[in-house]
Amino acid sequence: MNSRASRPARRHVVVVFIDLVGSTELAERLDPELLRHVLDRYYQACTSGIVEHGGVVEKYIGDAIMATFGIPISKGDDAIRAVRAAHDALARVRDLSDALGHTHGIRLDAHCGISAGEAVVIDLPGADLRVIGDTVNTASRLQSAASGGEILVGEDVARMVRSQARVEPVPPLRLKGKSSPVRAWRLLSPEPDARPREDPTPLIGRAAELERLHEAHRRVVRERRCHVVTLLGAPGIGKSRLVREFLGGLPEETTVLTGRCPSYGVGVTYRPITEMIGSLNGRWPSAAAPMEAASVSALRGLTAGAGPGRSGDGAGVEEISRAVRALFESLARRGPVVAVWEDLQWAETTLLDLIEDLAAWLPDVPVLLVCAARPELADIRPAWCGDRECAVHLELGPLDRPGMERLVAALYTGRAASAEVVAHRVDDLCPRVVDGSDGNPLFAELMLEMLLEEGEDAPLPPTIQALLGARLDRLGDGERDVLERAATIGHVFTADRLRVVFHDGEERRPGLDEPLARLGRHRLIQHGPAPGSYQFTQTLTRDTVYAMTRKELRAAWHLALADHLSGQAEQDDLAHHLEAACRFTREVRPDDPGLPALTERAARALIGEGTHALHRKDLPAAIALLERGRELLPPGDAGHRPLAVRICDAGLARGDRDRAFAALDAAERLLPGDRRNATTCAVQREILAARFGTRPPEPGPLRELLAADPGDDLSWCRLHQLEALVDLDEGRFGAAETALRDGLARAASLGDGYEENRLLSGLCELAQWSPTPIGESLALCADLAARFGGDRALLVPVLITRGRLLALSGDITAARAVLATADRHVRDLHLDLAAAAVVQVQGLVESLAGRHATAEELFRRGAAALRAAGQVGPALTLEAYEARELLRQGRLPEAGRALARLTAEPGGRHARTELLLIALRAGVEARRGEHRAAAALAALALERLGLIDDPCLRGDVLAEIADVHRAAGRTAESADAAGRALRAYAAKGAALPAERVRVRLAAGPGGEEVER
Ligand SMILES: Nc1ncnc2c1ncn2[C@@H]1O[C@H](COP(=O)(O)OP(=O)(O)OP(=O)(O)O)[C@@H](O)[C@H]1O
Ligand SMILES: [Mg+2]
Repeated sequence: MNSRASRPARRHVVVVFIDLVGSTELAERLDPELLRHVLDRYYQACTSGIVEHGGVVEKYIGDAIMATFGIPISKGDDAIRAVRAAHDALARVRDLSDALGHTHGIRLDAHCGISAGEAVVIDLPGADLRVIGDTVNTASRLQSAASGGEILVGEDVARMVRSQARVEPVPPLRLKGKSSPVRAWRLLSPEPDARPREDPTPLIGRAAELERLHEAHRRVVRERRCHVVTLLGAPGIGKSRLVREFLGGLPEETTVLTGRCPSYGVGVTYRPITEMIGSLNGRWPSAAAPMEAASVSALRGLTAGAGPGRSGDGAGVEEISRAVRALFESLARRGPVVAVWEDLQWAETTLLDLIEDLAAWLPDVPVLLVCAARPELADIRPAWCGDRECAVHLELGPLDRPGMERLVAALYTGRAASAEVVAHRVDDLCPRVVDGSDGNPLFAELMLEMLLEEGEDAPLPPTIQALLGARLDRLGDGERDVLERAATIGHVFTADRLRVVFHDGEERRPGLDEPLARLGRHRLIQHGPAPGSYQFTQTLTRDTVYAMTRKELRAAWHLALADHLSGQAEQDDLAHHLEAACRFTREVRPDDPGLPALTERAARALIGEGTHALHRKDLPAAIALLERGRELLPPGDAGHRPLAVRICDAGLARGDRDRAFAALDAAERLLPGDRRNATTCAVQREILAARFGTRPPEPGPLRELLAADPGDDLSWCRLHQLEALVDLDEGRFGAAETALRDGLARAASLGDGYEENRLLSGLCELAQWSPTPIGESLALCADLAARFGGDRALLVPVLITRGRLLALSGDITAARAVLATADRHVRDLHLDLAAAAVVQVQGLVESLAGRHATAEELFRRGAAALRAAGQVGPALTLEAYEARELLRQGRLPEAGRALARLTAEPGGRHARTELLLIALRAGVEARRGEHRAAAALAALALERLGLIDDPCLRGDVLAEIADVHRAAGRTAESADAAGRALRAYAAKGAALPAERVRVRLAAGPGGEEVER
């Protein structure tokens, strides 16, 4: 243990204020000397109450007393200590008042306020301790609001004590100096509800541990000997719960004794034993009968006298130990005894000795001692029952994830049934709780409760903070310091990074191996996933250490890390460190001269990382990072314009229309009067209209507007993208390609890598459909694959295009292999829309390979996925492909029905889909022998063909028309259409479909393909 008092610290503290009601009148009525005497006794009454519960009286302000709990080290249960202390103090003031009423005819009445929260504690040697923070004011205001004899506690305190004390809410208080009403609770009793609390869920997991306990019990009965099972585990991990389950499964005739070690108190050494004796009730006389008189009197001395827990008057430690042994022996002669010692980490050494004595010296009787303790027991008593053959140590670790999921679901169901819960989505809440609670059932209970009561943004429950904080306070200064710096680095850290934060000029670098090894022994850290790395064993510990580190230090360390990372190739977390440095500097030193530069640096880093996420198609992360960057980027900064475009892109890709438009509004607000920004935003609005299909976009007027500003590269770049969109919708792939190339030139002159990559991807995707020859497009694919390297999300569209092009050129095997790779990537990365694109091209490839049933199935799957994602237009295209596969399999009626349905479906069809539908309907009619209808549709298709420049689609449609003519015996027209089809394919270099047309020509009239 140590007192971490050498430098100002951020701590979780509990502050108590007690004051006299009506002290002014008292002063008026009493002689000053008498008043002083009365006040001394009042201070004495309060102080004794506080000190007995482990509090420290900080100062006297008039007649008010301010006390703190949790300083210099927290004990994990400071809140309940404070509540009991206040209760005792007020009770003593009441007793004093009664006494003074008799003797002096005066009454004293005190009121009290208790608040918990973060504060900065300054404890310099020789100087007054100073506690600074809102918690202090709140406690004082709560005290003023309390009426005579009343104790009001704040929200955190109520939360921490409500399982151990009874509190009731009072209407929110309007407190002086507080902007919003403060929630408060009145203390009713420092004792819990008498009703034993039922376990909210069945026992989850722990089957092996439970079996070990039962096995020990069976051995005890079989061998008639004393065995000891020690359960070690972190607070809340489930030691007591496991013991309850074990006790519940014991045979009726077992005598069960339970005793708890209180965490503090005077004369509580033997409290667990007095509890055990107390629980014997009517069985005490028969148990005592065979015992020696001295033992009986020693035990009586424990239970009687000065109240429970006082050591027996006169009886020495040895005598008591002997007496307890005699009692156990006497009980065990009648049947097996199970004695549970709870919370042994708080036991006095004397009691630990007594239990070890019991284990060693009990004669041959069936007694099982179950000792539950937190891991500190191993610090206090490293060799606890160590060398005994009949001793078992069980360490309870965290529950596994499936166990936690069941636990949280069960807890949630329990709460939902009690109707206290409003609408919260279990699917949202449960994973959050499971992720956040580190396998600790108590933490899961507390977190779920907090989330249900406080909603999404609930902070870490104070009870968890207090428990973890107490654990951290037991560390030595060196270890704590390392842990604080490590927590600033993150959940995973390396010694190298730690050295970076030790080079901040504040302190010299100490040796790190020793403290790291000690932290490992305390199970606070463990080796991390990568060689040489470490990680916190519990996320919550990391979060608590971080929260308890002074912001000024955090700011300096984050900045040191950022500066270090700036010079590195790998800049992971750079934006995070800069942002944190900026936030904390802003919070604690808003006048820091370096702040503006730091803010801008952080903004740019966030935007850079957000853009990168946007590339990767990690859209939620992209939006979050970019918007955080926007928060930090100063108004008027030209960076707001491209930033808005990117947020707009991310919103668009997510289908989040409001966010996309809001991004443009924000840019206009942050860059008022900026003409170029206004133009870019206008272009973007047209892009959004086109992509969301809200209205036909109008690029014309914008082009005219931009003609006056040829140097506005960004607006031009985006205008070209808008034009490409319009071309695409109308089936002009060549024109779209030209527009994208123009855009690319603008992006290059802007030096904007984001725009360049985006346009190159677009060009690559277009390459399947555009007139650009396959050879050239495959070269583009190769360039892009090299450029996008390891970024699989960017690589997927390239692979898709490459797969299709390879198939068109005749290499089905290579195409399938490339698409299989793309398929793996989209599955790994959960890219749902890209997955539909992979399936689509797989369908096209299988169709080219002549596997029409497989292709049909693929198109159906892809269409369903697109419909589920609300992408009706692309889904219709895939459904048209599906109908084509039916036709190719000769399933005429089904194809006819599918085409009729698709033709009747209103709106949303692209020009290319429309054309394909017409050609396929012509094919159906021709096969039905309806040659006139077929000819009319073929003519319509030919007419529309002029508008479309996708060579393969043109080839497909012309081949279909050739079939229609051939079926009707119009050989010349058929040959003409087939010839045109072949030329279209040849221009693209699409050897495989051309080959198919040739085969069909050779097969003569009426030849159908068959499924291979
Ligand atoms: N395996 C489990 N299945 C279901 N609930 C559990 C399980 N383990 C613990 N809990 C619940 O979690 C909470 C904390 O458990 P418990 O009181 O047993 O912890 P503990 O290890 O005894 O902690 P402490 O060190 O503070 O005494 C309790 O509400 C308990 O019912
Ligand atoms: Mg317990």
